[in-house]
Amino acid sequence: MKGVVLAGGLGTRLRPLTRVTNKHLLPVYDKPMIFYPIQTLVDAGITDIMLVTGGNNAGEFLRLIGNGEEFGLRHMNYAYQKTEGGIADALSLAKHFVGNDKVAVMLGDNFIQGSIRQAVEEFEQQPSGAKIFLKEVPHPEEFGVAVLEGNKVVNIIEKPKQPPTNLAVIGIYLFDSEVFTICETLVPSQRGELEITDVNNEYIRRGTMTYEIITGWWADCGSFEALLRSNLLVAREQGVDV
Ligand code: DAU
Repeated sequence: MKGVVLAGGLGTRLRPLTRVTNKHLLPVYDKPMIFYPIQTLVDAGITDIMLVTGGNNAGEFLRLIGNGEEFGLRHMNYAYQKTEGGIADALSLAKHFVGNDKVAVMLGDNFIQGSIRQAVEEFEQQPSGAKIFLKEVPHPEEFGVAVLEGNKVVNIIEKPKQPPTNLAVIGIYLFDSEVFTICETLVPSQRGELEITDVNNEYIRRGTMTYEIITGWWADCGSFEALLRSNLLVAREQGVDV
């Protein structure tokens, strides 16, 4: 399975921190933010990875990550997103890299405790479709929110004002290569982006979406509060008393 880490966008919600640098280069405890999602994919056994970046200081990722030696990799693939067209737009740039393989996609500002290795192995056996990861959160209105019926996800609503459940869709997605055909059919949302939630809802419509509820903590860096929380969670995970 291929891996793709998405690190484009302008990080506008984190200005002025992101006025002159890329959000994913900001520190989270003792490492740049982007190190954590790369490590999560490597820990899941995925070693063929593409980093999609854009926005401010895109070139710095090459200097920082190089060929991925620090992660035990021999090679790192890069793609450049020219505009902030959304998560699905950034993912489209990995089409030729992924080819007919399956792909694990991780947002560059997401962190999880623990591993997705078992889920990745299970998805290798899933004949086709997609798998998402859910986490109960206190403020689901800040995320994509999943609606379940029995053991199926039946809908995902992007940042609903009145969330029907408290199950956030976290920023790790497992897809078959059909994802690129689906991306081509998307139209921009009200915020002018190609939404990953629209991709996931298409898999739900096709009846090929599976899900897993993660038990460890999950964090993203969409806001100052989230960035601070991520720093604390990561530091405490390493035994730091903060
Ligand atoms: O963090 C999980 C949430 O991420 C999900 O619950 C939502 O369903 C999903 O839409 C997304 O929501 P956000 O609004 O928080 O996404 P954001 O615009 O902050 O982008 C998240 C990452 O995606 C960002 O760190 C880099 C990448 N990205 C984003 C955009 C808009 C790109 O690579 N290119 C882009 O154009």
